[in-house]
Amino acid sequence: METRNKVELRNVSRVFTTAAGETVQALRDVNLEIADDFASDGKDIGEFRVVLGPSGCGKSTILRMIAGLDFPTSGEVLVNGRPVTGPGSDRGMVFQKYTSFAWLTVEGNVEYGLRIKGTPEHERRGIVSHLIQAVGLSGFEKAYPHTLSGGMQQRLAIARSLAVRPQVLLMDEPFGALDAQTRNDMQTLLLGIWDESAATVLFVTHDVAEAVFLADRLYVMSGRPGTILEDIPIPFARPREQGLKEKKEFQEIEAHALALLRRAAGSGQVRVSV
Ligand SMILES: Nc1ncnc2c1ncn2[C@@H]1O[C@H](COP(=O)(O)OP(=O)(O)OP(=O)(O)O)[C@@H](O)[C@H]1O
Ligand SMILES: [Mg+2]
Repeated sequence: METRNKVELRNVSRVFTTAAGETVQALRDVNLEIADDFASDGKDIGEFRVVLGPSGCGKSTILRMIAGLDFPTSGEVLVNGRPVTGPGSDRGMVFQKYTSFAWLTVEGNVEYGLRIKGTPEHERRGIVSHLIQAVGLSGFEKAYPHTLSGGMQQRLAIARSLAVRPQVLLMDEPFGALDAQTRNDMQTLLLGIWDESAATVLFVTHDVAEAVFLADRLYVMSGRPGTILEDIPIPFARPREQGLKEKKEFQEIEAHALALLRRAAGSGQVRVSV
């Protein structure tokens, strides 16, 4: 069967040298493989993988290496079988503190990547209006980012990353700054858009309930040097509703992941939200 959107980390280690000349081993022997799944009717169903781990265990470093913004000290990072040598439009990243272009409107921000890619104007218009509607920003097309709430800015960031249809979407704690209700709304929204895009998503969070709610597989990492301790399959059917979080089966997986994370803290500092 055809495989696309394949991301592999093979024995990846990353050692940083600080300004003071000390070395910090951020990651040790991380192995990860994400490849597309297909439904029985042949439909590409995409993957939603979540990385959960204590602060400082190297989660952002993993995303940055897949994005081509950082490189392993040893081991290999491959996308579709080729070593990552730099950023590319096949991979999109949503940062925790994202920056949209202040001088561009909502519409202009979503359109930006498409312009760079050379997508013709009539096609751009269709994609932009569809995405603005999908993330619930209709009516704000002409607004500038600084006039939007935090939640709206996050939705803009997501629309902007999705516009160019990256095969791989890397999301680094994108909902970290949002209040609980907005965060829940964004989780549901993201799953809806993802279902339609069939992209491979690698999503980093500190929030155990968020991790279990979103993931089809959950990677729990140890404290620094970070390595993957357990790969937990999350069996719940989609579409998922927020009410799933109240179910016993959900809470059992959540408790298991939380216990692992607490044990895993090691030298890292645990920040868990329950
Ligand atoms: N450019 C750098 N120079 C030196 N050390 C670095 C650099 N980037 C990351 N590190 C170190 O590598 C380790 C992993 O950092 P990383 O940002 O990947 O962690 P994280 O899991 O994303 O943490 P958090 O949950 O707090 O965001 C940390 O100890 C960090 O201090
Ligand atoms: Mg981080």
